[in-house]
Amino acid sequence: MKITVLSKNNALLHRVKVTLLGARDNDQVELVNRSASHLDLDMPDIANANLLILDGSEEEAPDWVNIEKFNLQHPHSSTILICAERIEQILVQAMRVGVRDALYLAELEDRLIEVVERARSRQAAFEGALRGGKVYSFIPSKGGSGASFISSNLAYILAKVHKKRVLMIDLDLEFSDASFCLTDDDSIKSIADLVARPHLSGPVIESASIQIEQTFWLLRAPQNPEMSVGITPDQVDDIISVAVRHYDFVCIDLARTLEPIALRVMDRSDVVFPVMQTVLPFVRGMQRLQRTFRALHYPESKIQLVANRQGNKDDLPMTDIENALQAKFVVRLPNDFFNVNTSINTGKPLMEVAPQGILTQALIQWSNQLLGVKSEEKVVNVDHSLLSKLTSLFRSS
Ligand SMILES: Nc1ncnc2c1ncn2[C@@H]1O[C@H](COP(=O)(O)OP(=O)(O)O)[C@@H](O)[C@H]1O
Ligand SMILES: [Mg+2]
Repeated sequence: MKITVLSKNNALLHRVKVTLLGARDNDQVELVNRSASHLDLDMPDIANANLLILDGSEEEAPDWVNIEKFNLQHPHSSTILICAERIEQILVQAMRVGVRDALYLAELEDRLIEVVERARSRQAAFEGALRGGKVYSFIPSKGGSGASFISSNLAYILAKVHKKRVLMIDLDLEFSDASFCLTDDDSIKSIADLVARPHLSGPVIESASIQIEQTFWLLRAPQNPEMSVGITPDQVDDIISVAVRHYDFVCIDLARTLEPIALRVMDRSDVVFPVMQTVLPFVRGMQRLQRTFRALHYPESKIQLVANRQGNKDDLPMTDIENALQAKFVVRLPNDFFNVNTSINTGKPLMEVAPQGILTQALIQWSNQLLGVKSEEKVVNVDHSLLSKLTSLFRSS
């Protein structure tokens, strides 16, 4: 978030910056010492801010006219006012001109972060209302289909390659395999902490999750299945509702049992990806899932079949399976035993241990497909950058 702080007092600007960056170091904080007596809210640093923190502690009366003008022109940015005293008296006036929060100078270090996080949630909600993150769920047709491995690594690629904000939720409350495909971090943070919290927000979800990459968070299933007892479909529904306002993609790994939480998650999903291998027991499992999808009246477009571990000699012919299931596979992923094992044994995402591996490349292609990016476009981009690097080499030699 881009935060601009305006004050006539350098010491105060410094205090605000230290407090903000102490809590989070990835915000962009601009300090503006406004020596002029009037407020110039057209300055670029101010006009582009997502959050404006105005110090009104040294003024008789804040410049309401200009503050209102700014808030009208920037409906998705928030303004916070710092006051020396009398907040109660000026709060109504402040709110009328669009100030969202106010705090006393004396409580700066104690309350600033809480107020800023509220503004961040509003900002995310606004963006989310425009964007609406997608919900993808992944369900194995039978245990061992590869749903956990595939979903967590696809989610990682959406974040790492495409720079999307992604939340991976591990909802296999019994085995929680997805976590082990991504990290060896053994922190005990999990969805069980989240459902106990009274107020859900983007920052609260983030604080219960493990940050794997700059834009990738993993919300774990509890390490101990007993801790999952009592998690309800409504609670999971609430988490999804908040998450879609904060993330571009919410990817959810489900267990193979169709219990109420899984059914609710599938209801909330934009796409359900049932994952199977192309051998007989998995076909039976898929038919069982399809019966449920039909009973739930899911449109065909919502279900996208994934064939995993392709290329084994005992695979059934693809067309026979598609005939049996009366559906086509939308995604086919190769078997990549060696790289998958290395990834799982090291607790690192597949793309990190085998960036050029066949399964990594297939997952990247799938991610391109989901985002409507043509694979060739990426290749062309690489060629351009190579070309420009070579050109600059020639220039400098
Ligand atoms: N494409 C693949 N190539 C090789 N091994 C795979 C592949 N996909 C998954 N696996 C392996 O299959 C096993 C089961 O995967 P997992 O994701 O736990 O299945 P599920 O969640 O469907 O029960 C794991 O040991 C994983 O390493
Ligand atoms: Mg699994």
